[in-house]
Amino acid sequence: MTRAGIVVLGSVNIDLVLRCERLPAAGETLAGRDFRSAPGGKGANQAVAAARLAKGQAGAISFIGCVGDDAFGHTAHAALADEGINLQHLHVLAGEATGVAMIFVDDAGRNCIGLSAGANAALTTSHVDAASELIAAAAMLVCQLESPLPVVRYAIALAHRAGVPVLLNPAPAQALPADLAKQVTWLLPNESEAAILAGFAHGADTAASASRLTEQGFDNVIVTLGECGVVLASSGGVQHFAAQPAQAIDTTGAGDTFAAAFAVATSEGKDVVEAIAFAQRAAAISVTRHGAMASMPTRADVDATAPTSP
Ligand code: RIB
Repeated sequence: MTRAGIVVLGSVNIDLVLRCERLPAAGETLAGRDFRSAPGGKGANQAVAAARLAKGQAGAISFIGCVGDDAFGHTAHAALADEGINLQHLHVLAGEATGVAMIFVDDAGRNCIGLSAGANAALTTSHVDAASELIAAAAMLVCQLESPLPVVRYAIALAHRAGVPVLLNPAPAQALPADLAKQVTWLLPNESEAAILAGFAHGADTAASASRLTEQGFDNVIVTLGECGVVLASSGGVQHFAAQPAQAIDTTGAGDTFAAAFAVATSEGKDVVEAIAFAQRAAAISVTRHGAMASMPTRADVDATAPTSP
C-alpha cells in the first residue's frame, strides 16, 4: 500500500490573546495591549502548519476533531477550510461550546495559556472509528493531548495496528499509559513536558529526561528547548542540535510549527537529522511573527532559509 497524507487528530480553540509587558502574577490586574482573537488549538495549529508546508498539495492533510455549533466554531472551521485541509472528520457539535484558550504574551515573547476544552472534550472513539480507513492509509498520524487521552490512545493503537507511524506531541503533559510507548514512533515534548513525563522535577536536565523516556520504551524522543535547540534521544544515544538564530517576539505555536514540520519532513522521506533541521527552520520563522496560525510559515518561506551548499 502506498501511504499518503498526514492525519492530525486534536483540538480546535479560539485564542484570546493579550500582550502584556510581563506575565501577570496571581491576584494581579495588569493592563495589556493589542488584544486579538484568532483560531488556534494545538491540533488545528499543527494541521495548518502541515498544510502550508506540504508543498501545497491540496487535501494532503486531514483533521479529526470537534467544534461547537457557535460563532467561534464557524470561524475556526472556515480558517481550516481556507488552508485546504480535509475536514470530513471535523465535527460541528450542537449544544457544545468551541474550545477557548486565554493567552498572555509578554514582551520577551513568552506566554502562559489557560484552556476551556469545550467541544474538544466531546471527541469520542466513535469519531475515530469513522475515520479508521483514513488513518490506516495515512503516511503519519499526529496527536497531542488537548483531546481526551482515551480517544488519543485509541487512535494511536489503530494507527499502530495498521503500521502507520505516529507522532505524539504530549502537550499539555499528563501521565501516559505504559503500553503507549511502543506504539509511538516519535515523541515530541518540550523540556517541561519531558521532565513531567519522565517523573523528574521542573528544571530537570533535558538529556536525562529524554534518556529516561527512552528507558520507558519510547524509541525516538525529540525535546524542543526553544532558543536552546533540540535534544534527540534514541537507540543511537543523545544528540543536541543548536537552535536557529531568531529574534523572538511571540513563541505561541512554535512547538506546533516544529511538530508539523517534522511530520511533513519525515513523511517526505527525510531522515531524522534532516527533519529536525527543517522543523527548526520553520519554528524559527514562526517566533518572529505574532500569533499561532498567523505565524506559521509556508513551504516557500522555509525553503528560502535552507543553507546553500558551498
Ligand atoms: O500551542 C499553542 C496553542 O495552545 C494555542 O493556539 C492555544 O489554543 C493552545 O491550545
